Amino acid sequence: MPRFRRYRVLLVCAFVITVLLYHVSKNSQWDRSTEIWHAKPAPPATNHNTRPPAHQQPDSNTPPPPPAPKHRDDDTAPAPHAPPHPPPPEPRLDEPTTINIPQLKTADGVKGLYGLPTPATGGSDGYDAADPDALKPTQPATVPGIRPPNTHDDYQKQNDHVGIQIADEPTSTTIHWQKPKEWFPVPEESLIMLPTGAPKPIPLVQFAFGQESPAAKEKRELRLAKVKAEAQRAWSGYKKYAWTHDELMPVSNRSKDPFCGWAATLVDSLDTLWIMGLKDEFDDAVEAVKDIDFTTTPYRDDIPVFETIIRYLGGLVGAYDVTGGKAGGYHVLLDKAVELAEILMSVFDTPNRLPILYYSWKPAYNINPKRASPSAGVAELGSMSVEFTRLAQLTGKQKYYDAVARITNAFEELQNRPNATAIPGIFPENLDATGCNHTAPRPQTLEDSSEAAQSQAAANDDLWRAPGGYQGSNSESSSVGQIVQPGDGSGFNRGPQKRSPPNTAPAPFTAKGLPADWECVPQGLTPGGYGGGSYSMGGSQDSTYEYFPKQYLMLGGLEPKYRTMHEKTVDAAREHLLYRPMAKGDPDILFSAKAYSTDGTLAKMTYEWEVTHLTCFLGGMFGLGGKIFNRPGDVEIGKKLADGCVWAYDSMPAGVMPESSRVVPCKSADDCHFDQAAWYKALDHLSLEEREKRMDDYYTSLAKWKKEVKELEEEEASQKQAEAQKRQEEARRRAAEEEERRKRPVNSSLPGQEATAGQQRPASVAELKQQDTVQKRDLGDSNASQSNTQKLQDILDFNSNGHDDDSDQKPMKDVSLPPAPEKPLTHQEFVERRIKNERIPSGFVTLNDKRYILRPEAIESVWYMYRITGDVSWQEKGWRMFEAVVRATRTEVAHGAYRDVTLAPPAGAAGDEASAKRDGVEDSMESFWLAETLKYFYLLFAEPDVISLDEWVLNTEAHPFRRPK
Ligand SMILES: *[C@@H]1O[C@H](CO)[C@@H](O)[C@H](O)[C@H]1NC(C)=O
Ligand SMILES: *[C@@H]1O[C@H](CO)[C@@H](O)[C@H](O)[C@H]1NC(C)=O
Ligand SMILES: *[C@@H]1O[C@H](CO)[C@@H](O)[C@H](O)[C@H]1NC(C)=O
Ligand SMILES: *[C@@H]1O[C@H](CO)[C@@H](O)[C@H](O)[C@H]1NC(C)=O
Repeated sequence: MPRFRRYRVLLVCAFVITVLLYHVSKNSQWDRSTEIWHAKPAPPATNHNTRPPAHQQPDSNTPPPPPAPKHRDDDTAPAPHAPPHPPPPEPRLDEPTTINIPQLKTADGVKGLYGLPTPATGGSDGYDAADPDALKPTQPATVPGIRPPNTHDDYQKQNDHVGIQIADEPTSTTIHWQKPKEWFPVPEESLIMLPTGAPKPIPLVQFAFGQESPAAKEKRELRLAKVKAEAQRAWSGYKKYAWTHDELMPVSNRSKDPFCGWAATLVDSLDTLWIMGLKDEFDDAVEAVKDIDFTTTPYRDDIPVFETIIRYLGGLVGAYDVTGGKAGGYHVLLDKAVELAEILMSVFDTPNRLPILYYSWKPAYNINPKRASPSAGVAELGSMSVEFTRLAQLTGKQKYYDAVARITNAFEELQNRPNATAIPGIFPENLDATGCNHTAPRPQTLEDSSEAAQSQAAANDDLWRAPGGYQGSNSESSSVGQIVQPGDGSGFNRGPQKRSPPNTAPAPFTAKGLPADWECVPQGLTPGGYGGGSYSMGGSQDSTYEYFPKQYLMLGGLEPKYRTMHEKTVDAAREHLLYRPMAKGDPDILFSAKAYSTDGTLAKMTYEWEVTHLTCFLGGMFGLGGKIFNRPGDVEIGKKLADGCVWAYDSMPAGVMPESSRVVPCKSADDCHFDQAAWYKALDHLSLEEREKRMDDYYTSLAKWKKEVKELEEEEASQKQAEAQKRQEEARRRAAEEEERRKRPVNSSLPGQEATAGQQRPASVAELKQQDTVQKRDLGDSNASQSNTQKLQDILDFNSNGHDDDSDQKPMKDVSLPPAPEKPLTHQEFVERRIKNERIPSGFVTLNDKRYILRPEAIESVWYMYRITGDVSWQEKGWRMFEAVVRATRTEVAHGAYRDVTLAPPAGAAGDEASAKRDGVEDSMESFWLAETLKYFYLLFAEPDVISLDEWVLNTEAHPFRRPK
């Protein structure tokens, strides 16, 4: 009996499974393909620090650039519209399927679920700063830093949920991140290890500075103090109005939290405070760091991986390093860095170990297998290396290095694969990082999947078994689906809460729980997704290139591939992207263009001659690489690139460069002369031929119109004449009648009357009167025709006057006349009007984005050039920039983005009441203002051994990491 029952159960199960399999086979493929293969449509341009794609000017003559790439990956979260989502994988032993109920903060801050490696036991590879020469607040030191984050703006915009406060204490509904079991772990023996050995000798980066004169010192120190004062001011504003929030809103005195609300500005500013000697402020901030809970955020369902790494992880590691590392006594900084890194490590848990870039951290989604995006931003993918490398060095944990080394290897393979990218040596804006060749037929069978999955899962089981590893709660798989995701109220509703409810048909799973259709034909990184044909050194690519030489330094020169990759990059940029703009005075400067390949090859390239603030990091990169790899030509290029950005600052009425603009390239960098005609030509979206044709057409129709008008006038005139004649005849007739009357006998007459009547005097007067009336009427009529004539004349005069404002043209009142043809603008009129209306400075063609959002790249390169060349003219350039920036951005409590650099800020108003109230400043102060911009200004006027480039590497958020010795 029991036996029979068992069979019956099996039969029922078999039936159910068959039905479900059928269901799933219908759904799952489509489902997954929606999720994985189709790049999401790009959002409207605004973005990414990744920078905001240029807004096309209607007048420009270049094709509009593609919309801004969306810096958003698919990670595990299916598109909201996806059909029934594959249900959560089969329950597995110790699967962490539930929310972690009340992870209450402990007195010493939230530690998350894993044991933190303590720095003391971490051990290091000899790099560890036991730090005799740790930076002291009074005498800081560091290395080169680089560009600003790309994707800042997008997130900023999407996440302005002003005024939301994080609850001080998690409530029982607070969801916390939990470490998921790994699906695709790297076996211990396969970990890519940090290179070992004594660091290679690397040529010095910094100029051999000598003694400075007392006068020079005084001037420098005065400037240094002014920079520091501005930084203190911004910090005080943050502290007073936005403490522990991500950003201060410097106009409204409020705060916002675009980066998960983990106090981005606070963490980002730590090392700046230390370097500037603001020890009390630093200590306050470190206290606050202890309370940051990286395991939860009410603001986002996904963690923006790139921004989180460069700002938070970089900020914590940099602060730990500048305070002297282990010896400095701020262990909490490294503890928090590790805490965050442990959360972020899950993003690498993909079949090809390439990371997802937007991490759906909530346990309900986090437990699912992940695959990297089919449209991953190059900058986001490639800008993790120095942070994780330094962390590996500080903790001795090779897995951090392994994670980023695999990304480098993928980039290296792509760079070396023939014809893989249109411009050999560099990468397009977005790459397919899934590791799946979706043009190849899918080979998978359930058996294959099962086998592969089994071995993966077997390896998986061993991982995280280590003490302090994840302790998952055993729970029913069904509970996954019952998790209720609270709305976050931010309008940020990408992500997990949109998933379809669980308990729909389960997909078939392989033995160890992977979806059956997970297998695919492997491939490396390939151009893909939106922007797969777009090449530049700007926004969405920048810091990947920036990190090649920096990572070489971090590894003490022991990993030669970074040198090779850097050299291929700069050679490609030199050959295909760098150009000299045509500018008044023929300055010897360079910028880097954006190139589009329409067919994936070099054959059909179009260029956008862009001048963007983000690309300004390039001077520093060429300078640094030129020094350490002994390529003096690159240093010279670096100078010209840095000078390009200085020129752009100097060109604007505000003295500050715009976010994005375009100029005219010279035909040749060696033979480059400003040519007003060529500049004007570039300002006109129409060709001269088209302008001439429009003029010809105008004159033709004008002549026709004049003829018509004349005919009408003649007609009118003859009509009038006929009328006048008629009236005259009438008058004459009436006069005759009068005459007649007068001639009749008079009954009795006075003598005088009789005499008059006899001479016909009265008749004569009447006639005169009548004639007068007629004349008056004639005059009136001629008034009318005269005014028409006058109008015509006006219109004709208007041509010669250059008086071309349409609004001044008076409409013709006489409806009988056809409207005069509108005079088209001549080329010159058009161009001059544009220059005036759009306030276009000499040499520029469009200003796509006139804001200055407190970005650091230009001063960053100026600082590199100063440290590399020792030429004090760079300090002068930097000081000009500083004064202009402060004048434009100062608010009552801090500094804010400046709205339009083509408008000079009110003179002499920097920081006073009037300037604070003017509306030219936006209510935004990104964390990079204190982390980077003010730091670079400060370092430009600090002693050259403060953060010496021969001892430090600065990450792309300007956080200094100590180089191995
Ligand atoms: C912001 O704070 C400053 C000084 O604390 C104050 O003068 C200003 O009026 C405040 N602005 C707003 C919008 O409240
Ligand atoms: C993908 O597969 C197709 C067909 O097998 C092949 O032609 C193509 O080269 C592959 N692409 C990559 C990037 O490997
Ligand atoms: C002319 O005089 C006669 C007689 O004196 C009188 O009847 C008649 O009305 C007068 N006519 C006029 C127009 O005064
Ligand atoms: C003719 O011109 C006179 C004087 O300017 C003006 O007063 C009069 O109104 C005009 N008549 C017509 C019909 O426009």
